[in-house]
Amino acid sequence: MSVMSNPAYGEVLSEGKAKTLYITDDPQRLILHFRDDTTAFDGAKRASLSGKGTLNNRFNAFIMRHLEQAGVPTHFERLLNNQDSLVHRLDMLAVEFVVRNIAAGSLCKRLGFESGLELRPPLQELFLKDDERGDPLIYDQHAIRLGLATQEQLHRGAELALRVNELLMPLMADAGMLLVDYKLEFGMDDGGELLLGDEFTPDGCRLWDTKSRESLDKDRFRQGLGGVVESYRIAAKRLGVEGVVAEE
Ligand SMILES: Nc1ncnc2c1ncn2[C@@H]1O[C@H](COP(=O)(O)OP(=O)(O)OP(=O)(O)O)[C@@H](O)[C@H]1O
Ligand SMILES: [Mg+2]
Repeated sequence: MSVMSNPAYGEVLSEGKAKTLYITDDPQRLILHFRDDTTAFDGAKRASLSGKGTLNNRFNAFIMRHLEQAGVPTHFERLLNNQDSLVHRLDMLAVEFVVRNIAAGSLCKRLGFESGLELRPPLQELFLKDDERGDPLIYDQHAIRLGLATQEQLHRGAELALRVNELLMPLMADAGMLLVDYKLEFGMDDGGELLLGDEFTPDGCRLWDTKSRESLDKDRFRQGLGGVVESYRIAAKRLGVEGVVAEE
């Protein structure tokens, strides 16, 4: 198969809360389909937001390309159409790597951090990917003893997660936004390398307007503020994400 030929869509490999993965005729490549579905609170709150799939697909492509160019290995290969991207198939670690620059969300609710408190150096956390258990915060040792990751994988994941922060904080700042926090997922490729997988979109990060500190991310959905897709569009437009046009 030549690199640029269009892959044939195969069966659904998995259907998550916001994306669907399809196998292709190439065993090493998957199609990542971004749906309009939106969920919060581990799936308890749901909605379909027209246009979100397209925005997130384009937003993710922009960020993944930026990271890749700066030397962060990712699963992203190319955009296929509005809602689909071609990615390298990974064996995903069932943990989530979170980096926080400013206290918000569960950190405030759970531990009493004052919302908006600056966290320097950034705070890194690990969560178990398990909706039934509410994606609990875990120690590295838990992940290792559960057989979910090795010490080396956790170390590399944490290192790459911080590198992502160094690259994306200034990118967002130049676009008038604060990168408050974000969640990353990593997986192993067939050559045994840990790559950034899944997505980087306003569904999985917090972005605040630098001046007003208004949310331009999924908190708008969680908090019922409205204008969810419109905010994602504003963030994308400020970054110069291709194919996104909107008036602010
Ligand atoms: N390159 C990849 N190879 C294999 N699986 C991947 C890859 N990139 C992402 N995934 C997985 O695809 C799924 C994406 O779907 P979605 O984000 O909608 O799931 P989700 O409902 O959030 O569920 P989960 O809690 O498993 O993330 C995730 O389980 C993610 O780990
Ligand atoms: Mg997910």
